[in-house]
Amino acid sequence: MTTYRIAVIPGDGIGIPVTEAALVVAAKALPGRLEAVTFPWSCDFYLQTGQMMPQDGIDTLRSFDAICLGAVGWPEKVPDSVSLHGLLLPIRKAFVQYANIRPHRLLPGVEGPLRKGGFDILCIRENTEGEYSGAGGRVHQGTKDEVAVETAVFTRAGVERILRFGFEQARKRSGRLASVTKSNAQKYSMVFWDEVTKELAAEYPDVAISHYHIDAIAARMVMAPESLDVVVASNLFGDILTDLGAAIQGGLGFAASANINPDRSAPSMFEPVHGSAPDIAHLGIANPLAAIWSVAMMLEHLGEVEAAARIMTAMETVTAQGIGTVPGQNKTDEITQAVISALD
Ligand code: IPM
Ligand code: MN
Repeated sequence: MTTYRIAVIPGDGIGIPVTEAALVVAAKALPGRLEAVTFPWSCDFYLQTGQMMPQDGIDTLRSFDAICLGAVGWPEKVPDSVSLHGLLLPIRKAFVQYANIRPHRLLPGVEGPLRKGGFDILCIRENTEGEYSGAGGRVHQGTKDEVAVETAVFTRAGVERILRFGFEQARKRSGRLASVTKSNAQKYSMVFWDEVTKELAAEYPDVAISHYHIDAIAARMVMAPESLDVVVASNLFGDILTDLGAAIQGGLGFAASANINPDRSAPSMFEPVHGSAPDIAHLGIANPLAAIWSVAMMLEHLGEVEAAARIMTAMETVTAQGIGTVPGQNKTDEITQAVISALD
């Protein structure tokens, strides 16, 4: 039977306990078939070495079947602009993990702020370019003539592949795809995105495509979430919408994500949407469900569909019992143990 080599980067703060929890659950679902190698790359690693990961970090990760990441960042120790651009963002780019899949669904027993059932949206976020391309610069720093430029980069290849990915995901679900832009205000990149969407739509006549501006779809997600199914958005818009999605599904403790390299030319990376949460990092109350859901997505990506489904069912059994459904009410360990018991 296939065994999988998993690179584990717990990172900072609550990234550490939730990753540990997720791996215990994954190992339970696929006994003896996961070989995890842990890398201590984090803000503490930066304070010791001056780098978020070693020079050959990307090369080291390349040979793994998947990467499991906790959370990166501890702004009191290292500015976020340094920590994120030194670890998380370069991995997404180097391994062409251009599709960031973020499912937003209310688990049984979880009461979201909208207090109505049936919230189930799949967000596909462009993950390697757009507004987070890293292109830009600053001149005349510290003077009154200071200029900061941050350039959003939209390539035809990049836009086309994420939209195709969105169309394919829509095909697998309801056949409805919502494309998110701001083409009324951003007349170059977003008009281009709309054009490519319309070109591709001809190839997917079975998918019903609708176009929304980011501000309008944010409102729609709250007012009429049932009218949306698969949503595809640029890096920044997808980032914002998926925190909104997380909130509606009950909080960041439930929001999972998969940074996917669809061509499988390099490993994909699985991480909860939440950050390192320094304020609660030492309380032992971080909700591990987002990280556990993320490893379920990892197993699914690796082809272990049955094991992934068992983890999801176990999670749903646990939340239906009211465990892990209210922030801070259960300890990380308690929730993890409940998921493990439900797996038996
Ligand atoms: C996320 C995070 C990151 C992102 C930050 C930490 C750079 O917010 O995964 O959503 O926006 O990509
Ligand atoms: Mn985010």
